[in-house]
Amino acid sequence: MVRRIKVKKLMAEPTLGKDVLVKGWVRTKRGNRNIVFIALNDGSTINNIQIVADAASFDESLLKDITTGASIGVTGRLVESQGGGQNIEISALHIEIYGKSDANTYPLQKKGHSMEFLRENAHLRFRTNTFGAVFRIRHAMAFAIHKYFNDIGFFYLHTPIITGSDAEGAGEMFHVTTLDLKTIPRGEDGAIDFREDFFGKETNLTVSGQLEGELGALALGEIYTFGPTFRAENSNTPRHLAEFWMIEPEMAFYDLNDNMDLAEDFVKYLIRYALENCKEDLEFLDRMVNPGLSGRLKFVVENEFVRITYTEAVDILSASGRKWEFPVGWGRDLQAEHERYLVEEHFLKPVIITDYPKEIKAFYMKQNDDGRTVRAMDVLFPGIGEIIGGSQREEVYDKLLARIRELKLPEKDLWWYLDTRRFGTAPHSGFGLGFERFILFVTGMANIRDVIPFPRTPKNAEF
Ligand code: 4AD
Ligand code: MG
Repeated sequence: MVRRIKVKKLMAEPTLGKDVLVKGWVRTKRGNRNIVFIALNDGSTINNIQIVADAASFDESLLKDITTGASIGVTGRLVESQGGGQNIEISALHIEIYGKSDANTYPLQKKGHSMEFLRENAHLRFRTNTFGAVFRIRHAMAFAIHKYFNDIGFFYLHTPIITGSDAEGAGEMFHVTTLDLKTIPRGEDGAIDFREDFFGKETNLTVSGQLEGELGALALGEIYTFGPTFRAENSNTPRHLAEFWMIEPEMAFYDLNDNMDLAEDFVKYLIRYALENCKEDLEFLDRMVNPGLSGRLKFVVENEFVRITYTEAVDILSASGRKWEFPVGWGRDLQAEHERYLVEEHFLKPVIITDYPKEIKAFYMKQNDDGRTVRAMDVLFPGIGEIIGGSQREEVYDKLLARIRELKLPEKDLWWYLDTRRFGTAPHSGFGLGFERFILFVTGMANIRDVIPFPRTPKNAEF
């Protein structure tokens, strides 16, 4: 009995002349009456292994059932390839079919499907070269994130997915309830009586693990979260998901400059890791999906990010002479068109913008002495816009409380958050990296729906 070997390993350490067993899915079959060539992919690498079968040695009906999409196991001798295009191939001795695939109804028969068609067939799109590459890279980036933080002494903290807080204060939450929607219990004033709900209070899916992350940082020193995040914002864009993954480091004793240094070092590390460890998948995406991809990745690693304040950004945009769809002016939030102008036309580099007006940022950000701005930072990337949002946090109890009251946030629900500012408060900072936005950049894909296995967007929760 030969043991199964994965194609990636087989190609890295070819044991020429030895018998091997490979298992995978048929990408293509061609040949003639005498000889059959099968391209087999097992998902371990973008590369297919070529199987060569002498037609006379196999049942005609078996060979007929080896069609695109079928799952097979092949035992055979590993030999140097006779033809071009590959170095090694397997000269088949035995073929077993695990699962046939009807040639007339298998959705991935022809080449060149549209991305939209593949989204509708998200259950099968993993079997294409493009999506195989994207999801292998996504895995590598998730691994590298843990490695990066582990190597510098950060602790992975699991913050809750069901919570009573709206960390960002934007009100874009999915409610979590076991109440019967047909007979909702109400108090005398007509308001829903959440005391009868599962948790005895109103709860929602988390929009951010930050507030709980801060509790961890103010004891463990440096932590990060990496988990699913939910936003019920009705944004149908190639950059927004209702369910996405976010990485949120939070560090005691970091000011905004330390925070920016970490963010820049972190994303550069990840991109370098991809360049070194995902070569074949990146080469494929560069060649077939987004020409120039590898060059853009190297460019980001090799250049310092530009750091400017919001006020400077507004001045640049105002002086640009551009006609904007959304007006530019101090106090207005920057839109995608503004962010992309700064990154893609003005600076031609990633840009970090700091010190935004407090009105357009969350309640927890540290207030500057000018009384108008906060210690916020957004990292903007070419082709994407905002990829990271973060800030130094307001660690002064009175200032934080005043801001909570000013914004009429539910003060009593935030008692535990305020407590950290009463007992051993410390300067601290953190940020959130949108995992899918980052994967968009690394893979050069155009739509965020194509870098998460099963996208959740308005009116879409298939699979
Ligand atoms: O800027 P945001 O809203 O910041 C926070 O949630 C902070 N609590 C982070 C922190 O300081 N710990 O979100 C952070 C990042 C954005 O820059 C973006 O990359 C991503 O999360 N993001 C989304 N990604 C996909 N779909 C959405 N709807 C997203 N909303 C935010
Ligand atoms: Mg943001």
